[in-house]
Amino acid sequence: MSGDKPNNVPDEAELAGMSRDELVRLGTDLDGVELVHYEERWPVKGTRAERRAERAVAMWFLIAALSGVAFLAAFLFWPWKYQDSNSAGHFVYSLYTPIIGATLGLSILALGVGALAYTKKFIPEELAVQQRHDGGSTEVDKATVLAELADAGERSTLGRRSLIKRTAGLGAGVFGLGVLAVPLGGLIKNPWADSESKDSLWHTGWKPENGEKIYLRRSTGRMHEIALVRPEDLDAGGFETVFPFRESERGNEEALVAAMKRADNPVMLIRLRPGQQVIKRDGQEDFNYGDFYAYSKICTHLGCPTSLYEQQTGLLLCPCHQSQFDVFHYGKPRFGPATRALPQLPITVDEEGYLIARSDFIEAVGPAFWERKS
Ligand code: FES
Repeated sequence: MSGDKPNNVPDEAELAGMSRDELVRLGTDLDGVELVHYEERWPVKGTRAERRAERAVAMWFLIAALSGVAFLAAFLFWPWKYQDSNSAGHFVYSLYTPIIGATLGLSILALGVGALAYTKKFIPEELAVQQRHDGGSTEVDKATVLAELADAGERSTLGRRSLIKRTAGLGAGVFGLGVLAVPLGGLIKNPWADSESKDSLWHTGWKPENGEKIYLRRSTGRMHEIALVRPEDLDAGGFETVFPFRESERGNEEALVAAMKRADNPVMLIRLRPGQQVIKRDGQEDFNYGDFYAYSKICTHLGCPTSLYEQQTGLLLCPCHQSQFDVFHYGKPRFGPATRALPQLPITVDEEGYLIARSDFIEAVGPAFWERKS
């Protein structure tokens, strides 16, 4: 913008007294801009063809707004919870992702097409050539650039096209709401609603229902093979991951898959070596069965699986950010970013010698959230 200037550069007082047209002309002169071609799109104002073009552009912005509303409605209200392929709601559920993708995509596309169509139909056709200069901008450059921008805004004729302005504002506004709804939508959840349900944040799949016994089950990799755990199955110093199992779920593939896949269900069953002493948490003195201790596998930092157990030191290590939990001290964090102990599952052995859960965890499992106290 700066560089060689003509000698007749106005001073500040002269600049202040110049009209916008004069400033624009001055700016193009100072910048060495040569206007090669300039042509208004609609030299005769208000023709039917011009109004038709205006409605066509507005239509695209309206489509953007409507598809934005459709996206918001689908994102917030479409049934999104998993339905297995044999259930009646599976087809509707399977449409969730395609529908939010298609509506958001259409909204973006229509906004883009509307902006392009406006540029093609209403911005004057102009061809200008300018020499490139080095260095910063002078006061004159700044004043003339502002005038040129305002002039360009006026020549775009947007100011007097209220239909396009309103539909473009509507389309962009609804689209913006949709973009905000994506990250915020997942946070709109009431943790107190139905807090006694096993699906709430306060409970896990270990919550007893209808008085039914909940066994500790190991994963063999085969969904229908039910391998329950007895104390003699685990060597001293050993550990394994277990999941809840109810007899009523035997043969029910959907329930078995849910029990194995539910994020807060995995539990680390640990058998201490003889003589290893444990400091127990107040109120949880009888949560263990002899040398067997069961801790939630979900790290209280950010929820990774704490799968590495070192039997001599009694430390459970989370591989994500290296938090260490002390099994000899009720799962208290010893190192790393985790600040809360791993919740302990109360266990015992039934009359047939199988390890079972005595109840659900008595505190929420996994990372902290606003409403939890412990
Ligand atoms: S998730 Fe375990 S340490 Fe971060």
